[in-house]
Amino acid sequence: MTKFTSDRLLLFGATGDLSRRMLLPSLCALDAEGLLDPRIEIVGTARSDLDDFGFRNFARESLEQFLPANRRGGMAQFLNRLSYQPLDANDIDSFQALAQKVGTPKEGLSIFLSTAPSLFEPTIHGLEKSGLAGKNVRIGLEKPLGVDLTSSKVINDAVAHAFPEDRIYRIDHYLGKETVQNLLALRFANLMFEPLWNAAHIDHVQITVAETVGLESRVAYYDDSGALRDMVQNHILQLLALVAMEPPVSYDATSVRNEKVKVLHSLRKAVASDTVTGQYRAGAIGGQAVPGYDDELGKDSGTETFVAIKAYIDNWRWQGVPFYLRTGKRLPRRTTEIVVQFRDVPHSIFHGRGAKTVPNRLVIGIQPEENITLSLMAKVPGLDRNGFGLRSVPLAITMPDAFAGPQRRIAYERLLLDLIEGDQTLFVRRDEVEAQWEWIDAVRAGWEEHELEPKPYTAGSWGPSAAIALAERNGVTWHE
Ligand code: BG6
Repeated sequence: MTKFTSDRLLLFGATGDLSRRMLLPSLCALDAEGLLDPRIEIVGTARSDLDDFGFRNFARESLEQFLPANRRGGMAQFLNRLSYQPLDANDIDSFQALAQKVGTPKEGLSIFLSTAPSLFEPTIHGLEKSGLAGKNVRIGLEKPLGVDLTSSKVINDAVAHAFPEDRIYRIDHYLGKETVQNLLALRFANLMFEPLWNAAHIDHVQITVAETVGLESRVAYYDDSGALRDMVQNHILQLLALVAMEPPVSYDATSVRNEKVKVLHSLRKAVASDTVTGQYRAGAIGGQAVPGYDDELGKDSGTETFVAIKAYIDNWRWQGVPFYLRTGKRLPRRTTEIVVQFRDVPHSIFHGRGAKTVPNRLVIGIQPEENITLSLMAKVPGLDRNGFGLRSVPLAITMPDAFAGPQRRIAYERLLLDLIEGDQTLFVRRDEVEAQWEWIDAVRAGWEEHELEPKPYTAGSWGPSAAIALAERNGVTWHE
């Protein structure tokens, strides 16, 4: 792996939504904490016809809107690091001007590419031609990286033409979340879970990523994508891989990604009857009326805004254990959580006393609540006639309470820092992303074969009733 700290950062899509909401605030927060190399200069580029001054103004407004005031300490210093160069990615000549603006880095350059998929190839070509793809350059790629395996290979090939894999940083922002990294701490820095973490002791796993938002302003992108490609292909499959993988030899890019990709390769092709898709209709969330998807879109559409899948991992550890995956827009509340449902004790000594055991359950709250709750059986205090009453009680850790002090950070802070400094552990390798697409393509092929149409669900509900039935067929209830 090429080790250098970048003293130049080049942001493509610098005036876009991601930049405004996430990238500029993250960079400013890193700078305020002294985590950016003091030499760093940041060049923004996009189509908009701005100059340095205009871009700094744009950045200032973004920071005031999206970065809490207590994290904006070094804003003036940060704004001084910014400059801007307009670019038409389809015009090869405009890359020369960009290269001049970037200048010669003392140590290295990091590029963050967040552009429309159609601009990927011309951009890579332009970077190559203008000398912006040398040995001391690494590139971060934001989604969407294709819409299926074939198109993702085209993008991966185009990037590979200019950059070796050890300088390519594919972003899945879920990996930048502290609570997602905490999954690794929970599994591999504690002794007690690993011996139980397998089919002998785990009945099933649930992974839910629920959102209250609807289409937002992403009409064109979302309607072409749908929930499966937008959320399952990347975020949910990454969460699944982290939950299911074998212990890596060490916490480094090669070891961690080697283990994740084995899980992705072991995913069994999901049959259509193990999947449910839905699309929201008008309803209410938190007492507010919200329109249906078709109304927001302004036309009829067959795109799914909800998907539930019963997935299986065909390896020794997970044989026969269903992984229930679920994501949707306009669900009752925003929550990302992982539920590990353990099996019941093999024999209950309390049975004769009429007391029932409830199997243990581990709930890992990723967002917005960051907590870990393990349900344990306990004796109900008191002089019960049978001598024993049992009840399930929570052993709960609220992460912000356990770690009073550290800030809640934006996932992109971690990822930008790692891109700048050259740590690929939290970035997705080519074989991972291609294994993810392969599995997703097979799901979509099943839908097409069975002419599956998304079932309507009312905004503010937990999706179509078929999703409940999918779990109930195995005697499982979704955790809500
Ligand atoms: C993005 C999806 O990758 O993740 C969006 O494109 C989704 O549709 C978002 O809203 C969710 O991210 P987070 O961090 O808010 O859970």
